[in-house]
Amino acid sequence: MQKEEKRLNLAVLGCGQISQSAHFESCRRARNTNLYAVCDVDAYLLERMNQIHQPERTYSDYDQMLADPNIDAVIIGIADQFHVSAAKKAILAGKHVLVEKPLGVTIEECVDLQAVVNKTSLKLQIGSMKRYDPGIKYAKDFINGEMGELIGLKAWYCDSTYRYPVTDNVQPIIISGKNIRRPRGNPKEDKLRYYMLGHGSHLVDTARFLGGEIISVKAWNTQKFGAYCWFVTVEYASGFVGQLDLTIAVRMDWHEGFQIYGEHGSIIGKTYNPWLFKASDVEVFKTSDNCYHRPIGEDGHVYKLQLEGFADSILKNEKGIGADLNDGIMAMKTMMAIAKSVETGEIIKIAAIKEGAL
Ligand SMILES: NC(=O)c1ccc[n+]([C@@H]2O[C@H](COP(=O)([O-])OP(=O)(O)OC[C@H]3O[C@@H](n4cnc5c(N)ncnc54)[C@H](O)[C@@H]3O)[C@@H](O)[C@H]2O)c1
Repeated sequence: MQKEEKRLNLAVLGCGQISQSAHFESCRRARNTNLYAVCDVDAYLLERMNQIHQPERTYSDYDQMLADPNIDAVIIGIADQFHVSAAKKAILAGKHVLVEKPLGVTIEECVDLQAVVNKTSLKLQIGSMKRYDPGIKYAKDFINGEMGELIGLKAWYCDSTYRYPVTDNVQPIIISGKNIRRPRGNPKEDKLRYYMLGHGSHLVDTARFLGGEIISVKAWNTQKFGAYCWFVTVEYASGFVGQLDLTIAVRMDWHEGFQIYGEHGSIIGKTYNPWLFKASDVEVFKTSDNCYHRPIGEDGHVYKLQLEGFADSILKNEKGIGADLNDGIMAMKTMMAIAKSVETGEIIKIAAIKEGAL
């Protein structure tokens, strides 16, 4: 692990599953970050993480952590319902923010957060880490550079029935505590909502990252044998139509990918379960040389690459490819429009979504 001289001091809020499987290790591995502090209300869990990852500081109180002048940025790895209030506090304390996806749970709270962030020059990025997948990035570079106009896009995200045997083998054994903080009730009870926020947020971000702004949606949802299947026709601002498929749990291996057709070529991508840390297999056909092109994508650690990109954007003032606040809000509005379309059977314009809770 080669570390650069100039590094961002990161503090991680939340010692739960995502921090244990991705953020702590990524802060330590990334070439331009330090795992400076970690925070959790659960004293036992905090101490266990302190022993394993050895940050310079631990905090059981978020406000006290935010008062630490050595912290440059906070990674918010807590339940969706707490994202916006924690992000707002960090911004008001003068810290940059990387907040897990989805940005929040209501449109209103996200718009309110935008007003607060816009008064500062601080960076707020959403943890839509698939943008850093070298295969997806290669596709995006072709779209931006040589592909010309797009005429069609299909994207699918189908979590697998067999997901847990796979992820349990590759993730660290997750440690928990008796006093962890969780939102009231059981957020996993309402599957329509839980799957859309947890998985739909990734699909919508990939669809927007590759295809551009989505302006309307028409969605269907079918529920059978405990599985949920959304098919969504999306209209893109640049004048073409896409098809999104969110199916959970699909009765086969993890199934995620995209096909994009353009003026000067086509792209076919297969994305893997992120916990395998394997870049998407992406094949780009270019009419300029009548050849197929496939990048190797040797480093598929998307969570680490996300942190390196986030830190570069702050330390080097680079624009970066991360999902920004507007992306986070547009993803929320698109998910809201999908839910409304399922409910009403109507085509829903994204611009008409001004409020509501997911
Ligand atoms: N990007 C991805 O691939 C990915 C994957 C999994 C989860 N996530 C996201 O990560 C987020 C967290 O998920 P998780 O499963 O790790 O959650 P979790 O509930 O397992 O862990 C959250 C931890 O944060 C602590 N906490 C909550 N509020 C706190 C506060 N104010 N101060 C101090 N500690 C606090 C809790 O005690 C708990 O230990 C969710 O938004 C989820 O959508 C993203």
